[in-house]
Amino acid sequence: MKEGQPLSFAEQTGATPMLSVIVPCYNERPNVAPMIAKLDAALRGIDWEAIYVDDNSPDGTAAEVRRIAALDPRVRCLRRVGRRGLASAVIEGALSSSARYVAVIDGDLQHDETRLPVMLNELASGQYDLAVASRHVDGGNNDGLANRWRHMLSDGGIWLAQRVLPVKLTDPMSGFFMLPRTLFDDLAGHLTGQGFKILLDLVLSSPAPLRVKEVPAAFHERQAGESKLNAQVMIQFGGLLLDKTFGGYLPLRFLSFAIVGAFGVMVHLTVLGLLWKFTRLNFGVEQTIATVVAMIFNFQLNNAVTYADQRLKGPRLWRGLVLFLAVCGVGAIANIGIAKTLYETNTAWTVAGAIGAIIGVVWNYAVSSTLVWRAR
Ligand code: GDD
Ligand code: MN
Repeated sequence: MKEGQPLSFAEQTGATPMLSVIVPCYNERPNVAPMIAKLDAALRGIDWEAIYVDDNSPDGTAAEVRRIAALDPRVRCLRRVGRRGLASAVIEGALSSSARYVAVIDGDLQHDETRLPVMLNELASGQYDLAVASRHVDGGNNDGLANRWRHMLSDGGIWLAQRVLPVKLTDPMSGFFMLPRTLFDDLAGHLTGQGFKILLDLVLSSPAPLRVKEVPAAFHERQAGESKLNAQVMIQFGGLLLDKTFGGYLPLRFLSFAIVGAFGVMVHLTVLGLLWKFTRLNFGVEQTIATVVAMIFNFQLNNAVTYADQRLKGPRLWRGLVLFLAVCGVGAIANIGIAKTLYETNTAWTVAGAIGAIIGVVWNYAVSSTLVWRAR
């Protein structure tokens, strides 16, 4: 770590600032100018810059940032097109910095920017790797959460995160923190970049436990615009925890695909049971109908959950469905063929069946992820 070491040439000459403040934003136009004014006041005497990372907000946030940047060279705008996501915005903003420290703060004035110099001091002492603004240590508060429901969500998320965290964090959901830029650079390659919780991602990604300093901070009410936290964000959060807990043994997508597959088996058996009870079709026909229904069900669920980030719509949905049916059809034939061969060569039926099923799922996953939900 670089703390406590002399300033580099670039830092001495003032070519790189001491602190980059990364501000992820989506539809925060009215909050940009007040935020810069607040940073300017809070960071007097510190050489800082603000890097806004905007995902092409329809309200023209980026244009507003550039208007101010034309007057104030400390302000920059990184505009991303065709992308969405708080965590990935933060990562790309931080990676564009050459400063000694990077801080991350929301662009909606909900965080207390006067905490920044305090955080900087803690890091400059060289005793800590990460300074986190916490609403849950003495002196902090969480009054800005919109309602009881948000409080419950937040507390539940904290409880869940603390089960898997290697270090003590009273506020693992905080979106307001600071760390040396070189440390961020080192960790960047390990980050998942999914969802909302970049702080958790950082802490969980570090090979050695980080030395964390928590700084009390208030969380204000939102003044303008609205929160972007929704159900999909919550699901992604659960996914992040699962992914980190299983240490990357299995790709998260594969787990999701396999779980959807298990639901598909239930659908299959239910349909088969109903057909058997209420119709007089022969077993082959019933089995075929049940298979197709289960495949359509699996396709829809995978499209909504497993591949939520590249969901197929319109004509691409129909093309995807046909491809998926074909891929899974081949998978089923392979599954049955392999299990049958193994069984005939004296493998126990349970083992033969399980190997066939696993090969089927792996095949379906591998082929459909490249063929059906191909990244554009
Ligand atoms: N670039 C980009 N892309 N920015 C985004 C996106 C996105 O997809 N989604 C949200 N943001 C920006 C918002 O504009 C805001 O500046 C910041 O990220 C936080 O988003 P909010 O929608 O205001 O989040 P919140 O107020 O619900 O959540 C706050 O509380 C959480 C803990 O309860 C934030 O402080 C979170 O960081 C914090 O984890
Ligand atoms: Mn907010």
